[in-house]
Amino acid sequence: MRVLSGIQPTGNLHLGNYLGAIRNWVRMQDEMTGDAQCFFFLADMHSITVHEGREARIRNVRDMAAALVAAGIDPDRSVLFNQARVPAHAELCWLLNGTARIGWLNRMTQFKDKAGKDREGASVGLFVYPVLQAADILAYQATHVPVGEDQKQHLELARDIAAKFNTDFGVDLFTLPDPIIPKESARIMSLRDGTAKMSKSDPSDMSRINLTDDDDAIMAKVRKAKTDPEPLPETAEGLAGRPEAGNLVGIFATLSGATADAVCADFAGKGFGAFKPALGELLVETLRPIRERFLELRTDDAALDAILDKGAAKAAAAAEPTLRAAYDAMGLMR
Ligand code: ADP
Ligand code: TRP
Repeated sequence: MRVLSGIQPTGNLHLGNYLGAIRNWVRMQDEMTGDAQCFFFLADMHSITVHEGREARIRNVRDMAAALVAAGIDPDRSVLFNQARVPAHAELCWLLNGTARIGWLNRMTQFKDKAGKDREGASVGLFVYPVLQAADILAYQATHVPVGEDQKQHLELARDIAAKFNTDFGVDLFTLPDPIIPKESARIMSLRDGTAKMSKSDPSDMSRINLTDDDDAIMAKVRKAKTDPEPLPETAEGLAGRPEAGNLVGIFATLSGATADAVCADFAGKGFGAFKPALGELLVETLRPIRERFLELRTDDAALDAILDKGAAKAAAAAEPTLRAAYDAMGLMR
């Protein structure tokens, strides 16, 4: 079993990123036994599909590395690195460009969403993004890839590329990876609109809880979160058609490890005036240690860079045999 996942270092980390992605990684790492290792990386090579200045990119990579460590990724147990420091990703991506088909990429819904109406104006990088993602995964022979629901199609593409390469070159080189998608896909919604996902790109800062928000800011955002005048229902069924109420109960349940039904049972008949302070407390208790550790780590760039250097060396060594075998299978002298 080899676990691998990546996240784009795009700044402004929020509760959705933590509960939807990072916390699952930490859990998988903590469940590993023996010498089994997880690989977690910052997809900075993928981030070139979004225009960002040099300084912002450097800062975002360090921010995301600090956030992962603060949230519990242990750089001694897991391999933590940024893609750009491991050339195997770009090299294998190029080799796989010979295998991936334009028709396959044309079906990728994320490209359609991100390119929008101006497809001709989209970067080539955005189009081949899923091939780089396949290279990320296949270079390490990953078996399990924890991702959000939206990445399922990219994982299927990685499997298709792996299978075609193996067949075309008559080798048994690449492992077909399986996506690990959390059952109750923790989708955290905006605090201002229960039908929109919590996102760093929402113009209203009140819509999200940032990893850097202090205790008072968290309490204030929860207090001002949009709700409805009804009291909490006896069971989660009663939240149907109440997206804001459902979101707050969902966040409470995800943080406390209880079911939404159990949370409703505890607060049944009470209004949000009683529920919100309890939710705020829970958020503050969960996020405070992560924030404090994050802010501390962010004061020492050299230490963060050293963590990433060490991770990159381990990652490069782990990818090397597969990369070499791919060149060899294709008859490329290296
Ligand atoms: P954003 O929407 O803020 O731009 P990204 O698209 O960069 O976030 O997502 C980074 C990671 O965080 C992905 O794995 C994604 O699935 C997860 N994620 C982002 N927003 C949420 C959310 N509101 N709820 C759950 N997971 C989320
Ligand atoms: N595309 C993923 C996302 O947007 C990030 C990513 C890049 C990734 N390479 C990966 C995830 C490899 C898993 C495995 O969330």
